[in-house]
Amino acid sequence: MLEQILKKDKLTRDDLIYGLKLTDEGELARLFEAAYEVKTREIGRKAYFRGLLEISNRCRKNCFYCGIRAGNDRVERFDMTREEILSMAQWAYDNQYGSVTLQSGERNDPAFVEFIDDLLVEIKKIGGGRLGVTLSLGEQTDEVYRKWFDLGAHRYLLRIEVSNPELYKKMHPANAVHSYETRVDRIKALKRLGYQLGTGVMIGLPGQTEEDLADDILFFEKIDADMIGMGPYVVHQDTPTGREVLEKGLNGPEEIKRRMTLGLKMIAMTRIYLKNVNIASTTALQALDPLGRELGLKAGGNILMPIITAGEYKTKYLLYDNKPGVEDDEGKIRDSLTERIRAIGEEVGLGQWGDSPHAALPRKDFQAPDNELITPPDKTDKK
Ligand code: 5AD
Ligand code: SF4
Repeated sequence: MLEQILKKDKLTRDDLIYGLKLTDEGELARLFEAAYEVKTREIGRKAYFRGLLEISNRCRKNCFYCGIRAGNDRVERFDMTREEILSMAQWAYDNQYGSVTLQSGERNDPAFVEFIDDLLVEIKKIGGGRLGVTLSLGEQTDEVYRKWFDLGAHRYLLRIEVSNPELYKKMHPANAVHSYETRVDRIKALKRLGYQLGTGVMIGLPGQTEEDLADDILFFEKIDADMIGMGPYVVHQDTPTGREVLEKGLNGPEEIKRRMTLGLKMIAMTRIYLKNVNIASTTALQALDPLGRELGLKAGGNILMPIITAGEYKTKYLLYDNKPGVEDDEGKIRDSLTERIRAIGEEVGLGQWGDSPHAALPRKDFQAPDNELITPPDKTDKK
């Protein structure tokens, strides 16, 4: 049955569910191998770095699963300063990271928006515009998205988190700030406004089925995502979801292994189904397994987001427990990730934006002279 599915050019929803339900070790190995073949063919054996700057952990939202939710008063809130952010962006450029990602909790007050405006102007001066900028700053108005795009941001990450509206409601408070409809609308807006669109989900949430996850993949297709960032759900003990999972005894080694494997299966099925999108091998994988990020690359992922958040802030930007690498400085994180990539026989796409072949041609106005779309190594074996 698995071999039949893997021969198909276009999988059905049932095929996706079948793949996501696999448990046999041999079959899982075969699935990951097949996904790796698709990645090798469509993208090459190359992993791209996006330096992740967690610029602030203030958030106006209260997602039940997240450690920096507004309602968690145990969190010490921080803002990286303008100078700290710019100096780390310069560091990323000097270290040949093709791009940086600015991420924070969700804020939409004018002071925040203006702060980002200024950062974009300054970051775009680095290397004469060569450093790519991805934003991951939550739901904003069309006007704000447009302004940030005009200032040079070319990719935006906004996860749907869970594409099943019923489950979405269970994971978020019932109020207008957490509306599923608005979320979908904002994701569509990003695409319409010209961004390369990244979205994604959490995997292994309480009550989430393989059917839900198959529908998540179909959602990525429907909204025409260019990149996917998804990872296993990881407990944060000071959150409603985390407490529920811990109370029910659902965070033991077996359960963690299940979520981890489910995360890898999602990467593999998404790679096989969507073929040429960028897929991140996320930090959450490594939070559950020390080798998680390599496994993510081996299952079809091609993007790593090394954390370059300044100093002690890293330890305060805790979406979940056991965040890896908080003790290490950015140089050590870079070296260990580079080593991990080389150890599995891949190279790092240094100094390139690494836009996915799925995305339209990169924008001309801010295009760096040496920027390239990922050139697939060999298309001749493609039907
Ligand atoms: N486990 C895993 N991922 C989480 N995120 C938030 N909380 C958790 C958690 N407990 C993810 C969300 C968000 C991204 C920045 O982090 O998907 O979009
Ligand atoms: Fe805020 Fe994002 Fe966490 Fe939700 S997931 S509470 S929006 S930081």
